[in-house]
Amino acid sequence: MKGLILSGGRGTRLRPITYTSAKQLVPVANKPILFYGIEALAASGIREIGIVVGDTKREIMDAVGDGARFGVRVTYIEQEAPLGLAHAVLVSEPYLGADPFVMYLGDNLIREKLAPLVQRFGEEKPNAQILLAHVPNPQQFGVAELADGKVVRLVEKPSQPPSDLALVGVYMFDRTVFEAVKAIKPSARGELEITDAIQRLIDTGRTVRPHVIEGWWKDTGKLEDLLEANRIILDTLEPRLEGEIEASEIHGKVIVEAGAKIVRSVVRGPAIIGKGATIENAYIGPFTAVGDQVVIRGSEVEHSIILEGSSISDVGGRIESSLVGRNVVIYRSESKPKSYNLMLGDRSQVGLV
Ligand code: G1P
Repeated sequence: MKGLILSGGRGTRLRPITYTSAKQLVPVANKPILFYGIEALAASGIREIGIVVGDTKREIMDAVGDGARFGVRVTYIEQEAPLGLAHAVLVSEPYLGADPFVMYLGDNLIREKLAPLVQRFGEEKPNAQILLAHVPNPQQFGVAELADGKVVRLVEKPSQPPSDLALVGVYMFDRTVFEAVKAIKPSARGELEITDAIQRLIDTGRTVRPHVIEGWWKDTGKLEDLLEANRIILDTLEPRLEGEIEASEIHGKVIVEAGAKIVRSVVRGPAIIGKGATIENAYIGPFTAVGDQVVIRGSEVEHSIILEGSSISDVGGRIESSLVGRNVVIYRSESKPKSYNLMLGDRSQVGLV
């Protein structure tokens, strides 16, 4: 069994962060989202993983390397344009060959362990296995219609969803999927949809087994989902205090990495403070991930992700539900005239009170 992780795509829903960084490398609880997928496949016994890359190939390769540190062997597969998930399968055919494989969308996070599912797929050998989750907003996903426990119909982002069962971004296939991806035509959004390829498997009499997952699942393509994933993962971490803590209060589950310094501050977990970060005269509230080398002084931050190298000083109000990119500077200056001084990238969002 091989793994195939899709890590191309433009990440348009996470701009401006994705102008300069792959969406799969945005950290959740200070770890790139993509690493959770690699770890999940490795934990299910998979040793060979193909990663499909696009424009952000260089940074994905720099971050993941050859896979040795995850105990797997990674092969990079280039997709010249983001033409859809089924197109990614098509370009991976030479790598996958006749092996069955688990396809994992690089921006998805799922709690359920994959090992039992991978094992059952290997033993019972259906042509495909899809994972489904009940969601309140099925219009935003591929949606499955089941009858007597069987998949009868799949539709991509339907305006009138036939059920609330969304296709989770983890799929298992055998080699029959290649016939299906070659037979389908691009959808209205101009992509070869994996949803249509699976429908084709059903229409040609192949076995497509559904599995409704237990526990949470997040597609982190949007800010609110990313913050939610950060909240969920932070809550599962084991507290650990390795940095320096001086005249401060630390409550609940908090990780303070080595080299971090917390001075005259309050940190209320679940939260993580990255390596070499400085927190001074500040309040860090629940569900906050502070990246490496970040400086937060005289400010309050809660339910947010602050990426490495950024600094936040003397902000009056509380920063909440925010994603701050790398090396961003937010400060209050006392000089007159009193005015906002901004240098923001395209599509930045600033909420002022
Ligand atoms: C893709 C699939 C969709 C699936 C979703 C899961 O959507 O097309 O069927 O439900 O991933 O994350 P996309 O992220 O391309 O909009």
